[in-house]
Amino acid sequence: MKIDVVSVFPTYLEPLKLSLIGKAINEGLIELAIHDLRDYTHDKHKTVDEPPYGGGPGMVMKPEPWGEAIDELVNPETILVIPTPSGRPFTQELAQEYSQTKHIVFACGRFEGIDSRIAQYYSSNIRVDEVSIGDYVLAGGEAAVLVIVEAAARLIPGVLGNSESFIDDSFALGEMAALIEGPVYTRPPVWRELAVPEILLSGDHEKIANWRLAQARNKTAEIRPDLVD
Ligand code: ADE
Repeated sequence: MKIDVVSVFPTYLEPLKLSLIGKAINEGLIELAIHDLRDYTHDKHKTVDEPPYGGGPGMVMKPEPWGEAIDELVNPETILVIPTPSGRPFTQELAQEYSQTKHIVFACGRFEGIDSRIAQYYSSNIRVDEVSIGDYVLAGGEAAVLVIVEAAARLIPGVLGNSESFIDDSFALGEMAALIEGPVYTRPPVWRELAVPEILLSGDHEKIANWRLAQARNKTAEIRPDLVD
């Protein structure tokens, strides 16, 4: 999978080179390139923003540098992802889809966002996803890209050490679909007088699986009633 990220703060994306994704890059499972939007400007001040037409607060990102950058990076199979609070919700399902995508270009907006003609223009040739990671407003798309790439990258076969380990994630597809994961424990069996539930020490895998499913259902009903049928 190839990932290109365009941003006015390229160093913001450096954490993508760490940990799980860093390892996947070193192993050739992911190819990552980070681009500075200002490299696609031609004026002395490397201007990327202007006041909005129609008035209002803040600045809007100009289409020209974005157009030059995206033209250089995309091919007909690319998905162009534009993180924005006004996008469709980012979900585990979308993470799964991105994990099977050959090439994604992320366009990180700042200020009041990117001139809407960018999404409009590229939509006629390639898939363009405007995506929100939650109902809150960030200062820019960079933090959203960190979230989206991490969620998708760990689903690429071979990226996680143990390929089983995303199967019972919260929101994973399958039997536990749309349930959030119940509590997890490790050694020691008693910590500050708190004991691990005895059933987990029983060695009875069927009972344990049923207990986990019940725990996941209870927790989901309690804190995410919107996910319960
Ligand atoms: N940019 C600003 N806020 C955002 C959000 N909630 N999701 C994705 N991108 C954003």
